[in-house]
Amino acid sequence: MNVVIAGGHGQIALRLARLLAARGDTVLSMIRNPAHEEDVRAAGAGPVLCDLESASVEEVADVVSGADAVVFAAGAGPGSGAARKDTVDRAASVLLADAAERAGVRDFVQISAMGAGEPPAPGRDDVWAAYIRAKGEAEDDLRARGALDWLILRPGRLTDDPGTGRVLLAEPPVGRGEVTRDDVAAVVAAVLDAPAARRRTLDLLGGDTPVEAAVAALS
Ligand SMILES: NC(=O)c1ccc[n+]([C@@H]2O[C@H](COP(=O)([O-])OP(=O)(O)OC[C@H]3O[C@@H](n4cnc5c(N)ncnc54)[C@H](OP(=O)(O)O)[C@@H]3O)[C@@H](O)[C@H]2O)c1
Repeated sequence: MNVVIAGGHGQIALRLARLLAARGDTVLSMIRNPAHEEDVRAAGAGPVLCDLESASVEEVADVVSGADAVVFAAGAGPGSGAARKDTVDRAASVLLADAAERAGVRDFVQISAMGAGEPPAPGRDDVWAAYIRAKGEAEDDLRARGALDWLILRPGRLTDDPGTGRVLLAEPPVGRGEVTRDDVAAVVAAVLDAPAARRRTLDLLGGDTPVEAAVAALS
């Protein structure tokens, strides 16, 4: 299949590109920094420059046109302030969804975050509050769309430990916990191959169920 990954130089995105390219999919990775092109190519994807905080919906629609699926793997990242939580974690997701609709691409997998849209826990700072508000609003935007077959994945705290191949993937709430970026990428790759598993919002943690079985159980 043809897959476009937004936030294509992200840590999950590069892992996902490697998995998809290895199984023969064609991957286009949207990045905003030309210096990232080489890493994207090394992962087996084709880089395309597109800054999701400044691109128009027409420009993004051109990029995703002809894709079978888009994956939103972008994020303002640690160290960014509240404003970029809104312009990336919310607005860039909305832009990608608008562009997918315009281009007639129905399949949309969003990497959100556990706790999206919930009130921040006591003691969390304003940037965290802005982050989970932005993720929640991006999710709400997707859930309101009739023209997209969306799937929202909400990983717990991400780690760079080697993947285990086993996860807990279920409707919230499942409790707090961690999941490796390897395992998140494996789940995204598997759900792209499971088109019946859509219009669901799912928490994702490390767990006991093999990824393929966890995804098969959704359909
Ligand atoms: N950290 C956690 O524990 C955690 C937990 C749950 C969910 N998540 C979410 O999971 C997702 C993926 O995580 P990750 O660790 O793979 O993220 P990451 O490594 O920070 O990657 C995010 C990517 O988004 C890109 N990006 C930022 N602004 C952009 C823009 N304007 N246009 C295009 N791309 C832009 C970044 O590009 P640049 O390099 O150019 O900035 C970066 O490559 C994120 O949405 C994150 O919020 C994180």
